[in-house]
Amino acid sequence: MKKITIAIDGFSSTGKSTLAKQLAKHLGYVYVDTGAMYRAVTLFAMQNNYIGADFLDKEKLVKSLPSIKLSFKFNPELGFAEMYLNDVNVETEIRTLEVSNFVSTIAAISEVRSKLVEQQQEMGKEKGVVMDGRDIGTVVFPNAELKIFMTAGADTRAQRRFDELQAKGDSVSYEEVLKNVVDRDYVDTHRDDSPLVMADDAIEVDNSYLNRKEQFDVVLELANEVI
Ligand code: C5P
Repeated sequence: MKKITIAIDGFSSTGKSTLAKQLAKHLGYVYVDTGAMYRAVTLFAMQNNYIGADFLDKEKLVKSLPSIKLSFKFNPELGFAEMYLNDVNVETEIRTLEVSNFVSTIAAISEVRSKLVEQQQEMGKEKGVVMDGRDIGTVVFPNAELKIFMTAGADTRAQRRFDELQAKGDSVSYEEVLKNVVDRDYVDTHRDDSPLVMADDAIEVDNSYLNRKEQFDVVLELANEVI
C-alpha cells in the first residue's frame, strides 16, 4: 500500500482535527496539527508581552523566532501528539479563548509562517501524514495526493467550540465564541500571506449535518481511492 499525504484545510472549528486524528489512527499515519504550532507561537508572544489587547510588537517577536522551539510528543494515553513550546507541554494553554483571539494576528506575520511552513514540510517529507490547517493543500503540500476542504455553518461551528470549552470548565459565552470564529475566518481569508482558500483540486466536505462517523466514512473512502 502506498503512503500518501493528506491535507485537511478549512474554516475554524469545522472538526478538522477530529477527522485528521481518526484518519491518522486508522491508516497508521502521523498526524500534525499545524494550528497548534501557530497557537504555541501566539502563547510565546503573550508570555513575553509582545501582543496584547491593543498592541503588537512584531519586530521583537520576529527577532525571537530563532529561540522558539516547537515540538510534538506522542501521548499514548490520549492517542495523539501534544504540543511543546521550548520543551514545555502547552497543550492546554494554547486552547484558551484568549489565545484564539490573538492567533490569527500572529499567523498573518510572514516570518512566522515561513518558519512554521518549513518545519511542517520537514515533518511530512516521508509521506504517511495527515496534516490539518489553513494552507496545507495550497502552500505546505501543494502536491498532496488527497486534499479535503472542510466547511460548516458559523453557528454550528461556534456551538461545537462552545461545548468543548464549557466541558473544559472555561467560562465563556456563546456570543464570545461565535465572534472569535467569525473574526478568525475573516482575518484568515483576508491576509496577504497564504490566505485561507480552497485549493483547486480539493474536495469540499460540508459537515453541518454529518456526525463524526459519517464524516470519517466519507473521507476514508476518498483516501482509499487514492491509496
Ligand atoms: O486550527 P486552529 O483553529 O487551531 O488554528 C488556529 C489559527 O492558526 C487559525 O485561525 C489560523 O489563524 C492559524 N493557522 C494558519 N495556518 C495553518 C493553521 C492555523 O494560519 N496552517
